[in-house]
Amino acid sequence: MDAMYLSPRSWGWRALIALPLLGGCSGPQSTLQPAGVDAEQIARLFWWMSGFAILIWGVVIGCAVFVTYIKPRPHDSRVARWLILGGGVVVPPLVLGVLLAFGLSLLPSLSAPAEDGLQISVSGERWWWRVRYPTPSGGTVELANEVRLPVGERVGFRLTSPDVIHSFWIPSLGGKVDMIPGRTTRLSLEPTEVGVFRGACAEFCGTSHALMNFRVVVMEPDAFDTWLERQASPARPPQGEVARRGQEAFLANGCGACHAIRGTSADGVLGPDLTHVGSRLSLAAGTLPTDAESFERWISHPDDIKPGVNMPAFDMLPAPQIHSIATYLSQLE
Ligand code: CUA
Repeated sequence: MDAMYLSPRSWGWRALIALPLLGGCSGPQSTLQPAGVDAEQIARLFWWMSGFAILIWGVVIGCAVFVTYIKPRPHDSRVARWLILGGGVVVPPLVLGVLLAFGLSLLPSLSAPAEDGLQISVSGERWWWRVRYPTPSGGTVELANEVRLPVGERVGFRLTSPDVIHSFWIPSLGGKVDMIPGRTTRLSLEPTEVGVFRGACAEFCGTSHALMNFRVVVMEPDAFDTWLERQASPARPPQGEVARRGQEAFLANGCGACHAIRGTSADGVLGPDLTHVGSRLSLAAGTLPTDAESFERWISHPDDIKPGVNMPAFDMLPAPQIHSIATYLSQLE
């Protein structure tokens, strides 16, 4: 029993140790720093629940302190019975009922699919995100590992997966929704702040589950339109001799069997579309920056960076060739 006993002094130390951890409650992937209408509602529910929990904890600890320190003597059994019935039977359903009603009242707006406006399709792959946007001209453009959204507009997501269950989650903007093979699940989000946020897979999906992240860029509507227009355009031609040789090597070594680069003969659909890969904020689903050096590392040993990845290592290619392919890809802005 002695080991279980917490003196007020040890509580103080624990609180002091826990204090720096509160720093983890902010940042680009925090449910407690909402940047969207839905995330604000979820955060509000969290604070109400926390408030009630602290209140109940305070009352229980208050009673414990009262009977052990303030009035440590036998109590009237009738009062004790009422306390147990009231505190143990009546109050919990009341408190839980109020919180349940509050939580349920948020559900309709949180789970309502956005019927109008932009509809983005996201497929959870092993271990990256295939993202499809409709273009103003009525077509579709495919991107990877990056979601861009116009601020102040409700956007719908159609979520799927070809093989294993993932969960699509942008904590700063709203709740998470599972991506289930054979089904299309829906989510709608309305960002309220311009900025760069972080999304993650929230369902264990295999070896590299923890290396399956993406950037979410919330932009002014005009900037968003310009960006989408640019993404819909074909890849720009290689700039300079090294990049030109890189493009040749990319096509000659069969990279186009898995990857598409619109505007070239590479039209593979297994891996991420690389048409504008150089303009993305990350390579390999949030694991590397998109500079030439990172492309070199990725092409040579993808499995070292993302264990279990489907892409084979191309370290059998001569180093200058890998360098030229990396130069070419990093230029695809
Ligand atoms: Cu995908 Cu975890």
